[in-house]
Amino acid sequence: MKITYFGHACFLIEVNKKKLLFDPFISPNPLAKHIDVNTIFADYLLLSHAHEDHIFDTISIAKRTKATIISNWEICMWANKNGISNFHPMNIGGKIKLDFGNIKIVHAIHSSSFPDGTYGGNPMGFVVETSDKNFYYAGDTALTLDMKLIGDHRQVDFSFLPIGDNFTMSVDNAIIATEFLRCKRVIGMHYNTFDLIKINEQEAIEKFQGTGKELILIPIGQSIEL
Ligand code: NI
Ligand code: MN
Repeated sequence: MKITYFGHACFLIEVNKKKLLFDPFISPNPLAKHIDVNTIFADYLLLSHAHEDHIFDTISIAKRTKATIISNWEICMWANKNGISNFHPMNIGGKIKLDFGNIKIVHAIHSSSFPDGTYGGNPMGFVVETSDKNFYYAGDTALTLDMKLIGDHRQVDFSFLPIGDNFTMSVDNAIIATEFLRCKRVIGMHYNTFDLIKINEQEAIEKFQGTGKELILIPIGQSIEL
């Protein structure tokens, strides 16, 4: 499985010959100004909630690539109003089988309104199960006991967790989440983009190491294989 980081909470996952793009917020992100959003291709666009820092480049990428949007009902209808007809609406608790694997929608504790203030449905996370590996993409969320449900019922090889604090979990909370998830390997997201979510990267990596866990912080624009 190949994982490319495009900054903030945006990752491209390549698995079983399909490309899954999560929460595209690239063109307004000063930390990602070396990324040309027009060179990114996707088969699926997975959106965790309606906040601008998660959906900004959605419509342009969906129009150009014809990627299928997978998100809640409200976000799919918003995309539809913006000229997108490839979408699959879901909600928390639901699961679908797709050509690369399964997606299950799980709870996130956050808010979800569009930039104009209209209702954006419930925020959510994704558990993706494939013949290669399984992973959990948390979206924006607080630490929640519901993460234990994921750890109890699914084998998760690695997790994408927010670590920037202020709007989401912190590094310390993400370490507790690894216990709930029974998953020692975390890819950090939702940090450093704004002043309010600045972290000390080295300190964060060492905190994980100190508890026998691994925090991977991928430089923006770079890829890893897991
Ligand atoms: Ni948010
Ligand atoms: Mn956010």
